[in-house]
Amino acid sequence: VNGKVEIPVVVNVLYRTAAQNISLAQIQSQIDVLNQDFNATNSDYNSVPALFSGVKANVGITFVLQSVVRKSTNTTSWSTNNAMKKSAKGIAPTTPTTVLNMWSCNMGGGILGYAQFPGGAPSTDGIVIDDNAFGNTGTASAPFDLGRTATHEVGHWMNLRHIWGDATCGSDLVSDTPTHNTANYGVPAYPHYSTCTGNPVEMTMNYMDYTDDAGMYMFSNGQKSRMAAIFVSGGARAGF
Ligand code: ARG
Ligand code: ZN
Ligand code: CA
Repeated sequence: VNGKVEIPVVVNVLYRTAAQNISLAQIQSQIDVLNQDFNATNSDYNSVPALFSGVKANVGITFVLQSVVRKSTNTTSWSTNNAMKKSAKGIAPTTPTTVLNMWSCNMGGGILGYAQFPGGAPSTDGIVIDDNAFGNTGTASAPFDLGRTATHEVGHWMNLRHIWGDATCGSDLVSDTPTHNTANYGVPAYPHYSTCTGNPVEMTMNYMDYTDDAGMYMFSNGQKSRMAAIFVSGGARAGF
């Protein structure tokens, strides 16, 4: 990369019903949300508590919709086995070393989405988002209708871990985020104290927790550094 990171995005839409063939407006709404959340222009950014005002980050990465690929399917519901990324039943990714591929498809309600971390196979690289959690208009459905599933999954795609480190009082490998007991859900009341060492106030409003879309509205500076590291020369996503 030279200076600013700009991410071209291809959105792959798999639909069995007309409703699943989400509109271009719904797709663009997701790109807009990513640009807001990664540039600290989200309307709820000023809701970050004063306690975290010193670590909240403008990540400074932009997203541009390059194209939309659509395909009709007989598949009722998809799982995390990456079948949606294979041309047999799904849509193969477009140049994954230089493009963020997103798939919109019906995950059947069990999971909102999933991502591949940097360093994985190019053929399965990208993020998958349930069609009812895609963007913030059209068929997006509360409480996951603010486009934050993609913000969270792009966080993983840029090497971020869950804020609770996927273990009780686990580590997310980021030093400016507090240690969380476990995942938080819904929209937790502030302050929510951890029972981990030191009883820190948990950063439940971080995109890498599991709250409702309305409950998450910040990345931290440490997360920003971790994301930036993959785009430099020699990094796992240096092609961008
Ligand atoms: N991979 C997570 C899951 O589906 C995504 C959670 C996204 N959270 C959200 N509020 N949109 O379990
Ligand atoms: Zn996650
Ligand atoms: Ca941490």
